[in-house]
Amino acid sequence: MCGIVGYIGEKNAVDIVLDGLKKLEYRGYDSSGIAVVKDGQLQIRRSVGKLKNLEENIEKKHLKANISIGHTRWATHGKPSEENAHPHTDPTKSIVIVHNGIIENYAELKSGLEKEGKEFKSETDSEVIAHLIKKHYKNNLLFAVQETLKEIKGSYALGVICKDEPDKIICARQDAPLIVGIGEGENFLASDIPALLSYTRDMIFLENGDIAELTANKITITDIENNVKKREVKNIKWDCVQAEKEGYKHFMLKEIHEQPRTIEDTFRGRIYPDEGRVYLEEVKLSKEDIKNISNVYIVACGTSYHSGLVSKFLFENFAKMHTEVDIASEFRYREPILNDRILVIVISQSGETADTLAALRLAKSKGCITLAVCNIVGSSMSREADHVLYTHCGPEICVASTKAFTGQIAALYMLALDWACRKESLSKEELKKYLKELWEVPVKVGNFLKQAESVHEVAKKFAHKRDFLYLGRNVNYPVALEGALKLKEISYIHAEGYAAGEMKHGPIALIDDDMPVVAIAVKSRVYKKIISNIEEAKARGGTIILIASESDKTALDKGDNVIYVPDCDEFISPILSVIPLQLLSYYVAVMLGCDVDQPRNLAKSVTVE
Ligand code: M6R
Repeated sequence: MCGIVGYIGEKNAVDIVLDGLKKLEYRGYDSSGIAVVKDGQLQIRRSVGKLKNLEENIEKKHLKANISIGHTRWATHGKPSEENAHPHTDPTKSIVIVHNGIIENYAELKSGLEKEGKEFKSETDSEVIAHLIKKHYKNNLLFAVQETLKEIKGSYALGVICKDEPDKIICARQDAPLIVGIGEGENFLASDIPALLSYTRDMIFLENGDIAELTANKITITDIENNVKKREVKNIKWDCVQAEKEGYKHFMLKEIHEQPRTIEDTFRGRIYPDEGRVYLEEVKLSKEDIKNISNVYIVACGTSYHSGLVSKFLFENFAKMHTEVDIASEFRYREPILNDRILVIVISQSGETADTLAALRLAKSKGCITLAVCNIVGSSMSREADHVLYTHCGPEICVASTKAFTGQIAALYMLALDWACRKESLSKEELKKYLKELWEVPVKVGNFLKQAESVHEVAKKFAHKRDFLYLGRNVNYPVALEGALKLKEISYIHAEGYAAGEMKHGPIALIDDDMPVVAIAVKSRVYKKIISNIEEAKARGGTIILIASESDKTALDKGDNVIYVPDCDEFISPILSVIPLQLLSYYVAVMLGCDVDQPRNLAKSVTVE
């Protein structure tokens, strides 16, 4: 999500780090910063907004050094501001760090340090790392980092420098990418390949648990216990554009493949399956507040509206809360009956969509309790709602939303389970069971993505068709809507999503042997019902593309083309069943030569009515 660049060598490190950060600008960021050691002192500059602000702040000509680390921040904990921008230091300004990832146990680490009298300057989870390294520092930076990492739980790509050891950068990786670039008499560090391509093509991809010490002439990799690790040097052949997409042809495909990580990041530090505990720090509603809610309204647009439709099932089934879902542009122009016992949840990747923002403001003006589910920290909705629940999906660059959809369902699933438990509509044992299921989702998504090619084969057969029908029932009906939306927006093929049981009330007339029917028929309470609907479509000549559960041994009898997704609890299944539909639309659009990442007539964030 955030960008990291580091340099040590003979050249001016400031120029190289700034240049590397510019190469990562395409990923999106809200603030940036850089640190150097110069004449035995740490110097740090940080700025909100574009990198040119940082450049002005640096007064580039005057800041020269042979060692530097820099960062572009995409906020997760704490709003975008100069105080929250990286690098962060310890109170004595001898250690400085840049961090990408999420420190799950930062709150308890922070309160422990505060009890020892340490003052914190930011709202970030990252600042604790600098404090802890200082605490462990006894003239050996590598050792202090190793000791610190023993205390930290979570994900990190980390760069550290120390004013008393200006000849080295220490870096470490756990569940967040980090690359060491190899030069002659100089070495580099970066979160992403494009940052380094102008300087070197020889790179080491650090593995989880690796801690690297970089001097100008040497790279040593150890683990937390100081065991030396040998890592292969790879020569990267990609050009800059390929590297930005991590070798994927489009951002959409990259973002689809990121989902195991983005879903896991959304759960990270928030669910504890063994203890049967959900910890949603930002949502500050008490048990009484929750019990006092009479109705829930979920309001959103586009893909976010579809995740809202899925969430209705979660709130009703688990938390037993009466829930309605509305399209924001409809909600704001009817006269919804609103009062202070109604909770209005707005869902928005960007947090800036004009209609959703207007709906939030309307709800606030009527005294409702409001909660925003957003991906962008500090966005208008996240600032204006009473409560906010962030998805931790990182920047979504492709106009067509993919990872935001699964992140939103993941976030709202946790919320529904938490409230169900607090309202005692779910027992502790049931909670544990569902949390365990949730925890397994990223791995299941990852396993499915390994066979993405099977979806490509299906796409090849149908890319020339001009109309598609998507069918689903119950919690997978919104997935049918989402699959149809994806196909429409990136391939310009007409597609309709329908509740399968509604078919015989009209749309069945559309079906002939030229109409592919994508049916989501994973194992669920309505499995038999949707199978009957599929039979009806087949009887009219429709060609079926079936999304089925892996364990469904009879699926091949029902669908002409079957795509299997891993088995899971039916309420989680939308997260899995949507992935083949995202891939199907992607491959079809590529085959038709469409501009996948920037479809015609569409904007990523619709900030006008
Ligand atoms: O940023 P938001 O989630 O509020 O955006 C809502 C819609 O504009 C968005 O989901 C849109 O439908 C996407 N292009 C769908 O892929």
